[in-house]
Amino acid sequence: MPNHPLVSAARQSGPDAHGDHTCDAPPMPVADGAAGAAAIDKSDLARCFRDIGVRTGGTLLVHSSLSAFGNVRGAEHAVIDALLDVVGPGGLLVMPTHTWGTVSAAQPVFHEQLSPSITGRITETFRHRPTAARSLHPTHSVAALGSGAREFCLGHELYSTPCSRSSPYGRLVAAGGQVLMLGVGLDCLTLLHGIEEWAEVPWLFNRVETLYVITKAQATLTVVSRRHTNDPNYEERDFPSLEPILREAGAIAYSTAGNATIRLIDAARTTDTLLPLLRENPDLVLGPRVRTPL
Ligand SMILES: CC(C)(COP(=O)(O)OP(=O)(O)OC[C@H]1O[C@@H](n2cnc3c(N)ncnc32)[C@H](O)[C@@H]1OP(=O)(O)O)[C@@H](O)C(=O)NCCC(=O)NCCS
Repeated sequence: MPNHPLVSAARQSGPDAHGDHTCDAPPMPVADGAAGAAAIDKSDLARCFRDIGVRTGGTLLVHSSLSAFGNVRGAEHAVIDALLDVVGPGGLLVMPTHTWGTVSAAQPVFHEQLSPSITGRITETFRHRPTAARSLHPTHSVAALGSGAREFCLGHELYSTPCSRSSPYGRLVAAGGQVLMLGVGLDCLTLLHGIEEWAEVPWLFNRVETLYVITKAQATLTVVSRRHTNDPNYEERDFPSLEPILREAGAIAYSTAGNATIRLIDAARTTDTLLPLLRENPDLVLGPRVRTPL
């Protein structure tokens, strides 16, 4: 199948215009009170999250860059508190606390309490909040706080892939959840790796790893997990080029807070839109270097 027309148009018009921080290229650090950045606080953030459409009582997964805001009074604590206020006591706040960069066959141990999140300071602070739960997948764990947090995280380590349909990523979709992206673009949207798994794209896995989880209670679990590919012919993705398709489907809303672009993504609509496209053309998500048939 040829590329989706909206993807072709986006690829011709070049990279996403939003100045996001990306997973691939960590941004230059921004000092507190950086020139040109108006300070924002918890109430500014909460207003922004409500206005963009974050649902009170809903399930919300958040990807984030703290420095992208410019200057937040109260730093990551203000961001977390604003999110909890908006989701409310009946809602569920979820963040990735991934360790795929530090846990592998070469260093196979994930420690529920001691392994730091590699997905940003907001997530690392969040997982230490009292009553936050963390799922036990050795490379793609999430932390959750709020209604049903423990159940949401339960059993992630039992599936043989990082983002299976029964994992927290699938549960987010089943719950009618939303993904909020704070100053980061679609290249950080782990849900898209889930959709790759659910579409069964043929190039996604190229090795199986035996990894170990040490729980808070000091139990050791063995987890055999298929790893997302590191084959240079397939690992490069171009997720931001899917953005026009999701915009067209009404799956993304936009706002700004401080210097950061904020995206709110409907998880089920994103899945319903992209799953059939990926089943038909698994290469749709690959980057320009590897997209053409090899
Ligand atoms: C990698 C990534 C986290 C880097 O973002 P970042 O903003 O540089 O880093 P953090 O979010 O950890 O925030 C810490 C930075 O915030 C800045 N900061 C500190 N206080 C601040 C404040 N009050 N207000 C604003 N920024 C502040 C500092 O620059 C700090 O960097 P330092 O610790 O080196 O001093 C980000 O680009 C990213 O990819 N996030 C998404 C990750 C994800 O969810 N991935 C999922 C798929 S893999």
